[in-house]
Amino acid sequence: MVCIRNLEKKDVKEAAKLEASCFPEDERASEAKIRSRVSNNQALQLGLIAPTANTSMLIGHLLTTRTSSDFVTMESMEKNDSNGSNVALHSVTVHPAHRGQGYARKLIEELIFRCQTIITPRPKRVSLLAHKELIPMYEKLGFSLVGKSECQFGNSEWHDMIYEL
Ligand SMILES: CC(C)(COP(=O)(O)OP(=O)(O)OC[C@H]1O[C@@H](n2cnc3c(N)ncnc32)[C@H](O)[C@@H]1OP(=O)(O)O)[C@@H](O)C(=O)NCCC(=O)NCCS
Repeated sequence: MVCIRNLEKKDVKEAAKLEASCFPEDERASEAKIRSRVSNNQALQLGLIAPTANTSMLIGHLLTTRTSSDFVTMESMEKNDSNGSNVALHSVTVHPAHRGQGYARKLIEELIFRCQTIITPRPKRVSLLAHKELIPMYEKLGFSLVGKSECQFGNSEWHDMIYEL
């Protein structure tokens, strides 16, 4: 059965490969950045794990930082502010072969659950940047659209979305 657990150091290389297969170069998290997030705030980095015949494999992940910003900023992508009152959600990936089965939903629901129950200090909000085409997906998952983001990231236009916890 597919399960969700903390992303671990041993998963970092596979997570970097997933980033590379899911995002253009200027939007993906580097291996170093993933490693740093796992080291600094492991309970907020999630791995989606599927069993194989003899072992298991990473088929998706979710990456965040804590931040004092109300929205996702370039600074929130670079550093984790462990006392920040909010959580910035930077990446949700599901391997192409496993999409359309509700796994992104499960990853985000697990993040929200952890933020509401076990993460301390308790965050007040989860924010993210969405491309226009993914706004409906995040709205289905309970996020609200704020508007166009001021964040200049990669070569795209972004929209701020938030989930008040
Ligand atoms: C976006 C992505 C994470 C979705 O993963 P997934 O496991 O297929 O998504 P789910 O099956 O959990 O879908 C959850 C809901 O969002 C909807 N949805 C999923 N992908 C969508 C898309 N591209 N556009 C609009 N809605 C979408 C689904 O229909 C589903 O709605 P439902 O619950 O009413 O059926 C996956 O396609 C992916 O990894 N894409 C590349 C990376 C990316 O763009 N990540 C998001 C930005 S960080």
